[in-house]
Amino acid sequence: MKIVVIGGTGLIGSKLVNKLREGHEAVAASPNSGVNTVTGEGLAEVLKGASVVVDVSNSPSWEDAAVLKFFETSTRNLLTYGAAAGVGHHVALSVVGTQLLAESGYFRAKIAQEKLIKESTIPYSIVHATQFFEFLKGLADISTDGNKVRLPPVLFQPMAADDVASAVGSIAVGPPVNDTVEIGGPEQFRMDELVRRRLALLNDPHEVIADPNARYSGAKISDKTLVPGNNARLGETTFETWLAHSAGTGLAA
Ligand SMILES: NC(=O)c1ccc[n+]([C@@H]2O[C@H](COP(=O)([O-])OP(=O)(O)OC[C@H]3O[C@@H](n4cnc5c(N)ncnc54)[C@H](OP(=O)(O)O)[C@@H]3O)[C@@H](O)[C@H]2O)c1
Repeated sequence: MKIVVIGGTGLIGSKLVNKLREGHEAVAASPNSGVNTVTGEGLAEVLKGASVVVDVSNSPSWEDAAVLKFFETSTRNLLTYGAAAGVGHHVALSVVGTQLLAESGYFRAKIAQEKLIKESTIPYSIVHATQFFEFLKGLADISTDGNKVRLPPVLFQPMAADDVASAVGSIAVGPPVNDTVEIGGPEQFRMDELVRRRLALLNDPHEVIADPNARYSGAKISDKTLVPGNNARLGETTFETWLAHSAGTGLAA
């Protein structure tokens, strides 16, 4: 089965392509390989003969207008070229709680992406993942205010990128669910607590403040916003195991 992975050079995409290659023809597509979903360059060629498209791309800019333009244009192109090529399953990676995060420019773009997929004629599976362990430092970066990091002390259930790639891979080779599937990590934490631990391990001097009014990517959140429901598929990798495995690989940075 030919499976085209849009964003196949990214954090999740590169892991996903390696896993899919055990048994399938997985093609990594990104601007580096001459495929640009925003301009349409290379899309018709790469989708020729593809049964499945997996979109694990991300916008280079998270500025409100730029990220909305990226996900709308890119998704529209992917669905149009995909339908023309006879693609039978469109899989996209999004985030647990996306529909509750419309105050955030980034999440308005993910909501727009999901809407286009649901309205298209191509059978689909949308995968809602929780935050990646690899993103904890990025989460601190987008929540930095001077020399302090302000985060709401809400529950969250992050997971290893490797487990995200495994789950997306198994959904991609299965039948389209025409619905959203949630995936998450095996443990719950308080957001400020885990980011504080992560920064300490990285010798990052920023102080992490638990602030109930602090926002996540611009949106007000509660204990339930980022936690998956009871039917979520949970990854096996705990934070401690991930730390032990990522030490020295550069991925822990
Ligand atoms: N961060 C989290 O905790 C989290 C949680 C749940 C879900 N997600 C979702 O997971 C997805 C993947 O995230 P990630 O961290 O793996 O992304 P990433 O490492 O930033 O990779 C982004 C990929 O998108 C590609 N790309 C950028 N512009 C493109 C274009 N015009 N056409 C085609 N490809 C393009 C990049 O290609 P180049 O290498 O050529 O630039 C790269 O392969 C995102 O949609 C995000 O919303 C993230």
